[in-house]
Amino acid sequence: LRIAVLASGRGSNLAALLTAHQRGELPVEFVLVASDKANAGALRLAEAAGIATLVLDPRNYPDRLAFDLDLFAHLTDNGADVLVLAGFMRIIDGQALKPWVGRMINIHPSLLPKYRGLHTHRRALEAGDGEHGVSVHYVTAELDGGPVIAQAHIAVQAGDDEHLLAQRLLPYEHRLLPAVLKLIAQGRLQLVSPDGVALDGQA
Ligand code: GRF
Repeated sequence: LRIAVLASGRGSNLAALLTAHQRGELPVEFVLVASDKANAGALRLAEAAGIATLVLDPRNYPDRLAFDLDLFAHLTDNGADVLVLAGFMRIIDGQALKPWVGRMINIHPSLLPKYRGLHTHRRALEAGDGEHGVSVHYVTAELDGGPVIAQAHIAVQAGDDEHLLAQRLLPYEHRLLPAVLKLIAQGRLQLVSPDGVALDGQA
């Protein structure tokens, strides 16, 4: 299975995927790491691992749709079968992503459907939640709203602040994402529509 990873930031989730791969635990091939930020740490990790990289600057495009269509054209050209959003901090146009529904997953640091969008740790604390967590889900046109595949839960502890909670959650992110990708690579996971039709992005 050929994987492209999209990341805007430091890339610790990408690092977790690469580590799992190096250990022989993730039967995939990384064809590309793409970013909207030239200074993303994820790009440096990819370079060090000998993976092709791509940077597209949104400022060079007239609108979101133009950016997204160009991004997906590159991903297709690179032969990606499945896309992993690992800290990709952009909303993707619903029309542009349609061909990838069922073949694109995202990691989101909340117990979805709680706290879509930003500042998830802060919002969990403000709500007084006793637990917090991370979700991996299929990407659909609804932001952070696609079907959840797997979650990891942690207890909120006295003294947690936004940063501590985020930091304590991170190791769970780093286990969850490779685990889900492994299931996909093994052909053990498939997105099915309510009428039972497999959604593999080809429809
Ligand atoms: C992670 O918390 C992930 O859940 C969220 O963005 C962050 C990315 O971190 N979507 P990193 O770039 O993988 O270190």
